[in-house]
Amino acid sequence: DPSSLIPAASAPPPAAPPPRSVPSLLGGVLAVCEAAQRDAFPSAAAAVNIAPTGRAGADYQNNSALALYGTMKAAGALPEGVKSPRDVAERLAERMRAHDREAIFAKVEVAGAGFINIFLSERWLAERVKAIVTHGVLPPPSRQLEVVVDFSSPNVAKEMHVGHLRSTIIGDTICRLLEFCGHHVRRVNHVGDWGTQFGMLIAHLKNVFPNYSSEPPPIANLQQFYKDAKLLFDKDEAFKKTAHEEVVKLQAGDGNSRYAWEQICNVSRREFEKIYSRLEVDLQEVGESFYNEYIPGVVAHLEEIGLAKPTDEDAEGRCAKVIFPPGSKHENPLIVTKSDGGYGYDSTDMAAIWYRIFELRADWLVYVTDAGQGPHFDLIFEAARAAGWVTQQRLDHCPFGMVCDEHGKKYKTRSGEVVRLVDLLDEAVHRMRDGMEARRVEAEASGAYGGRAPNMAAEEMDHASRVLGYGAVKYADLKGNRNSNYNFSYERMLDPKGNTAVYLLYAGARISSILRNAPVTPAQLVAMGAAVELGCEEETALAREILRFQEVVEDATATLLPNTLCEYAYGLCGQFTKFYQVCRVIDSPQQNSRILMLSALEGVLRKTYRLLGLGYLERI
Ligand code: ARG
Repeated sequence: DPSSLIPAASAPPPAAPPPRSVPSLLGGVLAVCEAAQRDAFPSAAAAVNIAPTGRAGADYQNNSALALYGTMKAAGALPEGVKSPRDVAERLAERMRAHDREAIFAKVEVAGAGFINIFLSERWLAERVKAIVTHGVLPPPSRQLEVVVDFSSPNVAKEMHVGHLRSTIIGDTICRLLEFCGHHVRRVNHVGDWGTQFGMLIAHLKNVFPNYSSEPPPIANLQQFYKDAKLLFDKDEAFKKTAHEEVVKLQAGDGNSRYAWEQICNVSRREFEKIYSRLEVDLQEVGESFYNEYIPGVVAHLEEIGLAKPTDEDAEGRCAKVIFPPGSKHENPLIVTKSDGGYGYDSTDMAAIWYRIFELRADWLVYVTDAGQGPHFDLIFEAARAAGWVTQQRLDHCPFGMVCDEHGKKYKTRSGEVVRLVDLLDEAVHRMRDGMEARRVEAEASGAYGGRAPNMAAEEMDHASRVLGYGAVKYADLKGNRNSNYNFSYERMLDPKGNTAVYLLYAGARISSILRNAPVTPAQLVAMGAAVELGCEEETALAREILRFQEVVEDATATLLPNTLCEYAYGLCGQFTKFYQVCRVIDSPQQNSRILMLSALEGVLRKTYRLLGLGYLERI
């Protein structure tokens, strides 16, 4: 019966799938302006130029008319009746209104010599806020890329220092941003697990723990172990000889040496893990050793294409192979083979970049290290380009400044030693916990709880102090522009009134508590079809700030600058405070609209904190 193929009239239309991304405000404005320009001046190929703030209280400004006029005039292609940039602006503005299908604009106004002021519609802003409650906090749209982020990357048996901590924290946030935007991200820990130092470490291991092959060596302090081995290496000729033999055996793949090497790496790995698990950072270890088998082929290729060249012979008649990338401003070359035939840091990074481009097929490579390695990565990128490996790929070295103490000196303990990272993190948590305990005692004494028990159990307090303490360390690291040095200070990073994670988490908890105490939930309001209404200045300002989220994510991702996200989080909390000073929520006539607004705000804050690697506390 053919009629059975026709759906019954009563069948509901298939529901539209929920959106997976949402254009930023700027993206939405840009799309309309581009359509308008194509329509008004189809033959003029000039980029649309939108500034994020306009005059006279406008939200955005379209500044395209002047350049457009210039381009068309130079080409002798000015249309009939267009005599000035202002005429161009008038035509653009008219088309912008026509193309504004979603009614994004409240007003589009030509000003001055040909600027176009754009005022967003409050109705539209209100709907976008509501959409956050309905669909969740969505990323801006982007084409999925394959990204490799090389970060953290400490060295086996040497200390993992504050620089590695910075790389771990900054790299993790960059990965979170890229993942949120829908990219496929490989979080690569390029651990320094290879090199000649392993000769002396293995030799020392075999001396001190001859049972290493049947039981894991009980090395309590690998740094000390390294120092002891180095001391022997420097003064004991026989030991030095054994160490050299061990390097040769290791590189030749000798089973025992390889096993000993693994044992040493394991000890280090366990130490690194302590940091990663405290910080909840996910990393895939692909250490230097992994690229070893690729190096000879890569070097041979670089020689074949004439990029790697032998140096002059040294006194013993040996020569290294080096690359001076054409046009480089650096005087030092990359050393792809040392004069003794061995490979080093440069060789490994050439093999690694080759592997990431050709085997992993990455579109985007990001390396997060201290600024001191800038010249190294310049050379690696220049050499890869000169070799013709780089077509569409984006290559970024993402440098960061030093960690200093309050006086601007390199961060060390009182006795001048390197600070153990585990201790540093634990210290932040302890201080937070002590502060909470002191406040609790104080509040209890002053009767702040009205004679009732304090509102937090010990485990909840432990959990909160971990979220606050680790969050504080991370945020302090992220909030400055990463290119500058930053001064480490517990007092400053734990200050609940400063621009700190502690402040942000308290603000979040305050918002959550308002929502928790509301007589109706956001979900109920959505089901009821309640709307967001922007009645006063503070409400509109808060809505705008909430809706800037996608723009900020786009910006932070494109520039790989997490501080943009910190500034946003801090500004958003400030905007909330202004709102809350004048806008009552519960039991106000605008209650339902304001609950929806706070629910959107809570969603955006949670997401922003997540991107920064911070936890979230419903209550503190
Ligand atoms: N292990 C190096 C260090 O501690 C950082 C490695 C960075 N990544 C790279 N592909 N070179 O300085």
